[in-house]
Parts: sequence; structure tokens; C-alpha cells
Amino acid sequence: MLVKDEHGERMRRCRCFLAREQQARLERLFKAARVPRRFQKKRLEDFDPTYQKGAWKIACRYVEQFEAIRGENKNGLCFIGPPGTGKSHLAYGILNSLLAKGVPGVCGSVPEIMDLLRPQTGPGQEAQERLELLKTLDVVILDDLGAERNTEWVTERLYVIINARYNDMLPTIITSNLELEELEKLPGWERITSRLFEMCHVVTVDGPDYRKGVKR
Ligand SMILES: Nc1ncnc2c1ncn2[C@@H]1O[C@H](COP(=O)(O)OP(=O)(O)O)[C@@H](O)[C@H]1O
Ligand SMILES: [Mg+2]
Repeated sequence: MLVKDEHGERMRRCRCFLAREQQARLERLFKAARVPRRFQKKRLEDFDPTYQKGAWKIACRYVEQFEAIRGENKNGLCFIGPPGTGKSHLAYGILNSLLAKGVPGVCGSVPEIMDLLRPQTGPGQEAQERLELLKTLDVVILDDLGAERNTEWVTERLYVIINARYNDMLPTIITSNLELEELEKLPGWERITSRLFEMCHVVTVDGPDYRKGVKR
């Protein structure tokens, strides 16, 4: 979609075209970390809020009011709770809705994202480009924080991403089976969780494991 500028001489691309192009580029760079197949069609509207009314309402409000929320100091969410309670569904549901609104974002499980940042994954500059995107994109979802193998390198990469997003007040959504207080005890994590406490509203997601067939 091209539109003429005011002089009718040069052409420029409209915003939604650029947003789609940027998202396509993101998906190329983050092949494995883009919305996984299971979550591609997950919407907040498909979520059964019986056990998670509070968390679901927060997720819906987050999408509806994203333009206002993104300007706030605490503009992220941390979904914390045991496995199978719908944390990833809520996080990907938010991202799917934001992508539909043209907000560029990326998501992935932290172990996968870390693999994509290793220089041996593709050309070195791709790893660097991915890191830059994770630091600067409008919204980033780090799914399953704390599930990665915690080497010094991983902790440093996570710190670099979270610190950049903290400094620029960029919305970050986290899911984890561990409370921030537990993550804080991991070696070198204090400076990461300290920022997360300030950046994110902690949303407790509790209840039965949906994977075990609570309701289908
Ligand atoms: N309340 C819910 N309504 C609909 N589907 C759900 C709900 N909770 C979980 N699910 C589904 O159950 C599966 C596991 O949920 P997931 O979000 O991956 O859990 P978690 O990330 O907390 O381990 C997914 O397929 C998800 O879509
Ligand atoms: Mg999950």
C-alpha cells in the first residue's frame, strides 16, 4: 500500500504496511521464538475465566488500554503460578491482540530466546540484531522465565535485555512458575528481579492444571 506525499513526487509506505513489514522481519529473525503453533490462535476471548477471573480481566484491560498503559512507569505484567494454569495462554493472547492492532512485538520461551542469541545460531550479526530488537521492541514477552539453564552468560543476556527495557520504560510481559522472590535467589539475579518489581504488576495465576482436563 503506497500513498503519495504532499508533492505527489515521492511515494511513502503507510503505517500499517510498515508495521506488517516489520512484523514479517521479526518473524524471520525469531523463527523459533515467534508465537508457537499451539498459541497462534489463542485469544483472550477463548480463555475460560472460571478459575482465573482476575488475571483474565487484567489481560483484557491491558490490551484495551495499552496505549495509555505503555506510558506508565509500571507498564508490564508478570504472570506467576504453577504449570497449566493458563499463564502462557494469557501472555500470547495479549500479544496476538496487540499484533492485530499493529503493535510490533515478539515472544518466546526464555530458553529458546537464549538459544537464538548465541552467536553460533546463524550469522553473528543476526544474534546481535535479535538482541537489539529484544531491547527496543514495543512489547516483548519472556515466557517461562527461570526455566532456562542459568549460566553466567544467560544471566548477563537477560540483564542486558531487561535493563534496556527498564531504562526505556518499554512494556515487558513475563510468565514464570517461580515467584519473583524465588527468582531473586538465583545467582546474579537480584539486579534483574529488582527491575522487574518496578516494571511489572505481579498477577498471581493459580488453580487447577488445565492440561489435566479441567474443562475442554
Ligand atoms: N482458562 C483457560 N481457558 C482455556 N484454555 C486454557 C485455560 N487455561 C489453560 N488453557 C489451555 O491449557 C493449555 C496449557 O495452558 P498454558 O497457558 O500453557 O499454561 P501455563 O503456561 O500456565 O503452564 C494451553 O493449551 C491453554 O490454551
Ligand atoms: Mg507456560
